[in-house]
Amino acid sequence: MASHSLFTRSWKQLSIPANILRLWLGITWIYAGWNKATDSGFLNQASPHYIGAQLDSYIPTSPIGFFLRHLIEHATLIGWVTLLGEFAIGFALLAGVAMQLAALGGFALSLTFWLSSTWSVKPYFLGSDTAYMAMWLALFFAIRQSGKGRKSDALIPNLSDRREVVRLAGVAALAVAGAFLGGKFRAKNPTPEAGAAITTLTALPIGGVFKFVAADGQPAILFRTKAGVFAYSRICTHQGCTVDYNASANLLQCPCHGAQFDPAAGAKVMGGPAPRPLSSIKVAIKGEKIVQI
Ligand code: FES
Repeated sequence: MASHSLFTRSWKQLSIPANILRLWLGITWIYAGWNKATDSGFLNQASPHYIGAQLDSYIPTSPIGFFLRHLIEHATLIGWVTLLGEFAIGFALLAGVAMQLAALGGFALSLTFWLSSTWSVKPYFLGSDTAYMAMWLALFFAIRQSGKGRKSDALIPNLSDRREVVRLAGVAALAVAGAFLGGKFRAKNPTPEAGAAITTLTALPIGGVFKFVAADGQPAILFRTKAGVFAYSRICTHQGCTVDYNASANLLQCPCHGAQFDPAAGAKVMGGPAPRPLSSIKVAIKGEKIVQI
């Protein structure tokens, strides 16, 4: 009953603009956690999406690169903390539990994302983390002002209040449940074995381009020219979005922050924030077939 009244009061006490921010940020943070929980590569060291691979790719451009370098050995732990933290912040905010702390946590995460992954995005407004920082800060002060003087709205939750502890435990349980459920929905990519045919020479004439799933499950793209066949991973080396081939520009382009790669030159970076070329995938012609080797 007390939790119910806290929930209702938490929505009533905030102004409409603050509640709009709260709803948007709460849902977005839960979705961000869900996105990571359902990503089969996020905590898988063999995957190009692996959190450690992402941290590694930020080092050359991040102002906190030295710090990230030290964190890489704990990448899986950092992945879990981020995933559970996003769920917990989202649920706490929507439920009205420790909202000031949740807003500060959201701000801290957005600041970290900005300093690591979107620092090199130019112009800055194409990266969303600075906008999230501003939203979290605005919401933090709105919550703070609306709850003035009330003990239950203190910045630091009162851990000697049993109901408050139960509420915090409820938020933690929801975060763990979200991560567990996400694991059940994790996409199982078809992983053709190395050596299996990708396509045939008849199906891919000279000048042709063919998208396929590589042996490790990542999206890939195959080119056939007069010189032979070659292929690249389609995972962008900036933040792991999937690049696509633009035939008129003869470039592989990333839809997220505009990185461009030249497939005719080893997928070297031609523009945008990507720190290095796309990974190449070894392929060969075997008789009438094109295979991954
Ligand atoms: S993910 Fe940022 S440019 Fe590709």
